[in-house]
Amino acid sequence: MRILAIETSCDDTAAAVLCDGTVASSLVASQDDVHRAFGGVVPELASRSHVRNILPIITTALARAGVTLDQIDAVAATCGPGLVGSLLVGLSTAKAIAFARKLPFVGVNHLEGHLLSVRLTDPVPFPYVGLLVSGGHTSLYLAEDLGRYRWLGATRDDAAGEAYDKVARVLGLGFPGGRAIDELALQGDPQAIHFPRARLKPSRHGAVVEDAPAFEFSFSGLKTAVAQHVQAVPPRTRQAVADIAASFQEAVVDMLLGVTLAALRGTQCTRLVVAGGVSANSRLRARAAQAAGEFGISVHIPPMQYCTDNAAMIALAADYRLRRGEADPVSVNAVADLEL
Ligand code: KG4
Ligand code: ZN
Repeated sequence: MRILAIETSCDDTAAAVLCDGTVASSLVASQDDVHRAFGGVVPELASRSHVRNILPIITTALARAGVTLDQIDAVAATCGPGLVGSLLVGLSTAKAIAFARKLPFVGVNHLEGHLLSVRLTDPVPFPYVGLLVSGGHTSLYLAEDLGRYRWLGATRDDAAGEAYDKVARVLGLGFPGGRAIDELALQGDPQAIHFPRARLKPSRHGAVVEDAPAFEFSFSGLKTAVAQHVQAVPPRTRQAVADIAASFQEAVVDMLLGVTLAALRGTQCTRLVVAGGVSANSRLRARAAQAAGEFGISVHIPPMQYCTDNAAMIALAADYRLRRGEADPVSVNAVADLEL
């Protein structure tokens, strides 16, 4: 079965072709250059760029996979969560192709795509705890089986990647800032400044499962602490900026791993999957590997191209649903706050 999948939930236009569960092509057109001047994603500019990119990227994805549209058996697209104007571009295109070609259509939840992305390269058995950590999300799920995901908790305020991007802006490191902080932090002292780590009491705030405490994160206090520190003691050397970057990063990783390890203990699960753009972070990867040895858990992180937003993971989620005989009507709409 050959699936053409499209992903346009935020600022990347992505298309992929999956042939019998194997990625035949997976392309991403980044819009970083469009949004850089604004220091963040501008929704209206994102949807306009998707309109410009969508047809060329589909054509190229088909060509790289060595197939034509006539050889495609099903079409899939992300239907949420995300920026609604962005989602609509990919979703409408996918639905139009499916309708015109009389092909089955599958609308995929972006979060399910991220949770399953590891399985593009590593058949991690269920159950596993999934930490989704990106510019838009910082959430924990227990993936019990295909299509069965239990929400364990999320951030109460900023996503971790959002905190990285905002701190990078304060430090004058450009957008998106996660990678710049990661690289600069290698030369800094993570103990130079003690930034606060939010420790939230296990709460029932928003918990889906009754009596299950949520495992929550909070990054906005940390972001403010860094901004206040920079204002009070403006860094005058590159070393001083590197020390702030390293100290901030250490606090983020402490919080991410602290809560995630508690969730693993709470669910008695021994497998951890990390996905989303922040899983590229070298310190998070190193400390997760260290925790794996210490606590007897296995840590699985997809290769970089499948950590960040991509259409291969959307194709894979669709593939599993099609194999179960499921598909969606082309009346499926884009939902900005779609839950998993
Ligand atoms: O998953 P993604 O590509 O897009 C969404 O947000 O959905 O994630 C992008 C986020 C940005 O906030 C970016 O700063 C962050 O991932 N990021 C990193 C690193 N590389 C990307 N954060 C920390 N360390 C990195 N190496
Ligand atoms: Zn994402």
